[in-house]
Amino acid sequence: MNTDRRRISIVGATGSIGTQCLDIVQKHTDKLRVLALAANRNVDLLIRQARMFDPDVVAIADRSCTQALRSGLEGTDIRVLEGGEGVCACSTHPEADIVLGAASGIAGLKSVLAALEAGKVLALANKETLVAAGDLAMRTARLHKARIIPVDSEHAGVFQCLEDSTRYVEKVILTASGGPFRNIDRTALDSVTPQQALKHPNWSMGAKVTIDSATMMNKGLEVIEAYWLFGLREDQIEMVVHPQSIVHAMVLFEDGSLKAQLSLPDMRLPIQYALSYPDRWPLPEGRVDWARPQSLTFAPPDLEKFPCLRLAREALAAGGSAPAILNAANEAAVDLFLKERIGFMGIPRMVEGALGKLSGSSCNTYEEILQVDQSARHYVHEASKRNTLAL
Ligand SMILES: NC(=O)c1ccc[n+]([C@@H]2O[C@H](COP(=O)([O-])OP(=O)(O)OC[C@H]3O[C@@H](n4cnc5c(N)ncnc54)[C@H](OP(=O)(O)O)[C@@H]3O)[C@@H](O)[C@H]2O)c1
Repeated sequence: MNTDRRRISIVGATGSIGTQCLDIVQKHTDKLRVLALAANRNVDLLIRQARMFDPDVVAIADRSCTQALRSGLEGTDIRVLEGGEGVCACSTHPEADIVLGAASGIAGLKSVLAALEAGKVLALANKETLVAAGDLAMRTARLHKARIIPVDSEHAGVFQCLEDSTRYVEKVILTASGGPFRNIDRTALDSVTPQQALKHPNWSMGAKVTIDSATMMNKGLEVIEAYWLFGLREDQIEMVVHPQSIVHAMVLFEDGSLKAQLSLPDMRLPIQYALSYPDRWPLPEGRVDWARPQSLTFAPPDLEKFPCLRLAREALAAGGSAPAILNAANEAAVDLFLKERIGFMGIPRMVEGALGKLSGSSCNTYEEILQVDQSARHYVHEASKRNTLAL
């Protein structure tokens, strides 16, 4: 056995990022070994993954699924854990060299904080944790000498351009595809369906992040994520619409030089780079074909049509509990939209309503962040029942 293999724990193993990570492990079995897998409730896939990758431990967050997981892994020596503590045991596995934080939403916060407290190298896809708890996460990382390597493609692009130093940086520019509704009229957005919103033109992703891309809240969340990851001022982070999704990010230096990271839209590259860093490993698929004529276009975002961009910037500028409120209200509103209980433009209305109504509470500890999160979700559910902001 090759003992130099990097040992990884994957939280969110059954999701879009988690499964692509396992794809990478399969291509690099000489370099990577899976130690732990955790998911929420997709037992069947988790069992298949565990049987294929033979980790030391698996965890399922939803305790009602534990028995099925135990039965499915009978005859193996894989340890089965459950609940939030079980997931945290995966993200803090003492032998893990790298932890992939790939749960979706605030559900990933506890295991991300636990990994940072354990001083791990954290490959972070779960942007909502930095939006809701950026200050706490970065403080925890500093205190325990943990390292966060971004997996989100734009931040992975910035990370590659920076080469570990923000010296001389004037701005970073994150690109956005513009989502499926880039070219439709503002008034038509009121009646778009979840099916239409789930058809992303360039990326295949989990449902929540796909809807965030359609409202462009995704880019707003990413501005907040970049603020914490790279220690920049809010006015140093710009976004530009680039429908081809080939340029993922650019860094503008003080002398006017602009560095960009380009690659085809394929999350396996940023996931793999987070695992291989500071090395690079081969990834043979996916090259930009420069023999073919093509255009790369850029345009400023339409803040009137996509109010989530403005709301995210306002929440970042307000600080305190505002980003956690923004995040939770958005998660709750996206969920209601997917269940067809509110309209598409109900999402920004709900978020704006929550930000206007709830603010000022302290948001420094995990418990305080959860409290703010719960209040914002409660606000959205009540507002949807009253149907005031929903349509
Ligand atoms: N997909 C992309 O291309 C992409 C790109 C950039 C950034 N991101 C970010 O990466 C994160 C994951 O996105 P995704 O698209 O992979 O989401 P997804 O497909 O919805 O997968 C979410 C994963 O998290 C697991 N999970 C949910 N709650 C959990 C809990 N409490 N404990 C442990 N695991 C839990 C789910 O398990 P079950 O399957 O059992 O429910 C699933 O494995 C998001 O923050 C997203 O914004 C994604």
